[in-house]
Amino acid sequence: APVNVKKICCIGAGYVGGPTCAVIALKCPHIQVTIVDLNQARIDAWNSPDYALPIYEPGLVDVVRVARGRNLFFSTSIDVAVQEADLIFVSVNTPTKKSGVGAGFAADLNYVESATRHIAAVATSSKIVVEKSTVPMRTAESMRTILEANSKPGLRFDILSNPEFLAEGTAIDDLFAPDRVLIGSLQTPEGKSACQSLTNVYANWVPVDRILTVGVWSSELSKLAANAMLAQRISSINALSAICEATGANIEEVAHAVGRDTRVGPKFLRASVGFGGSCFQKDILNLVYLSESLHLPEVAAYWRQVVTLNEYQKRRFSKRVVDTLFNTITNKNIAVLGFAFKADTGDTRESPAITLIRDFLSERAHVTVYDPQVEVSQIWFDLSEALPDVPLEQIKKQVTIANTALSAAQNSEAVVVATEWKEFRDIDWRAVYDTMKKPAFVFDGRMILDRDALREIGFEVMTIGRGDQL
Ligand code: UDX
Ligand code: UDX
Ligand code: ADP
Repeated sequence: APVNVKKICCIGAGYVGGPTCAVIALKCPHIQVTIVDLNQARIDAWNSPDYALPIYEPGLVDVVRVARGRNLFFSTSIDVAVQEADLIFVSVNTPTKKSGVGAGFAADLNYVESATRHIAAVATSSKIVVEKSTVPMRTAESMRTILEANSKPGLRFDILSNPEFLAEGTAIDDLFAPDRVLIGSLQTPEGKSACQSLTNVYANWVPVDRILTVGVWSSELSKLAANAMLAQRISSINALSAICEATGANIEEVAHAVGRDTRVGPKFLRASVGFGGSCFQKDILNLVYLSESLHLPEVAAYWRQVVTLNEYQKRRFSKRVVDTLFNTITNKNIAVLGFAFKADTGDTRESPAITLIRDFLSERAHVTVYDPQVEVSQIWFDLSEALPDVPLEQIKKQVTIANTALSAAQNSEAVVVATEWKEFRDIDWRAVYDTMKKPAFVFDGRMILDRDALREIGFEVMTIGRGDQL
């Protein structure tokens, strides 16, 4: 019979593990949920009395307020939490490998492997182990092998794949009402029974017809496929935005018309300066690597083009800025509004803003950045990573971090919108105009500004997916 899950341990208190297991705790008051991490500072932040949580996510604080201390705990005592749990989520980071075989493409499974070995080393009873991190196909199989080879006699480990589909910025809404929950298991009686145990956890708030149970391999591939196809939509619309800019077409009108076809659908067709985030590029490169390993070069080339187009879109945008500013931005002041990879998050992983700023700095511009959520130290960290050959002191001579959008714009020749924060729409643009050098340029990389109103004020406005008509 399926195990009746009473205690859950989640290894990894990051963007995925934190919100997911906080919501499980909220919705399942009868289950004790302990989220553990190696990183003491991160756990302290989750436990902070004033709820200064380590990640910014709308609605998350409200969830933690209700559940923390009731049946939700954050801890660095990994061993105890693992030993007590019936079910363990593994939600550790899986960055793209920076060196060795598959560098730049394959996922670094070091963290998954060490978490798995740790479970095998300390577990004193049987467990259901759930792979939650986005991982390459066959990871569940590797986890199974490691657990079986290292565990104490008489213990059983059932491995499930349960990829997470939440998007940052809407994580809590996504978790409360997911389009679907996907659980992959071995199609053996034991595998199906473990799958039922996890299904019963989700069934506390997710309608059963939204819980899909499939084989492990389908589950692992579906996660990569979902992200690849979402990213592909953005690269498709961005490719069309280049045609719009060169003609009289308007990408918003085109996207609207195309999206009205129910076979295409209206969502996720917003042209932009390029997609970012920890998942899209990583998962596509994973898929490319997998296809190549399977000797399917045409398939690999197909998916690789989605990333190539995204790089092109970012480069195209920064070039448009330089071209428009009379072919040089050397010593000019460029204000960059937004540093996060999308609105409503403080996450900067693969943010297109980083690429734009890197391009502006290599043209020897001076850049002033403002973002409502990203930590100042994170901005310095990301820029040093993006410019490994430039010492941080040099970067700090060329970059200023501002506290408001208005102060970022002061004395600049151009304002560049890199993230679609709602507050950028509501800035006092007339005041911005007054503080800027003339002609005052605005580059809207997110199609959020009112072009006509800005032109009325006197701005020269450039928007993704529209011809210039300066
Ligand atoms: C994504 C998937 O949406 C989610 O299901 C998966 O679990 C993790 O990866 P996330 O990266 O958090 O989520 O955010 P998402 O909203 O998908 O945005 C990714 C990037 O695409 C952002 O940079 C966003 O600005 C960009 N984007 C999104 C566009 O440029 N245009 C769009 O129409 C939508
Ligand atoms: C298409 C467009 O659908 C239509 O809107 C446009 O006006 C003309 O082009 P059509 O070519 O008549 O219509 O048929 P469609 O149903 O789109 O199928 C085109 C091809 O795609 C067929 O060979 C079909 O078998 C194939 N197809 C379609 C698939 O292989 N898989 C699918 O999921 C859908
Ligand atoms: P994601 O976006 O996938 O959630 P994050 O980097 O935000 O990724 O979170 C992953 C977390 O997992 C980090 O806080 C990291 O410290 C933690 N972690 C990695 N390996 C282990 C491990 N073996 N044991 C406990 N925590 C780990």
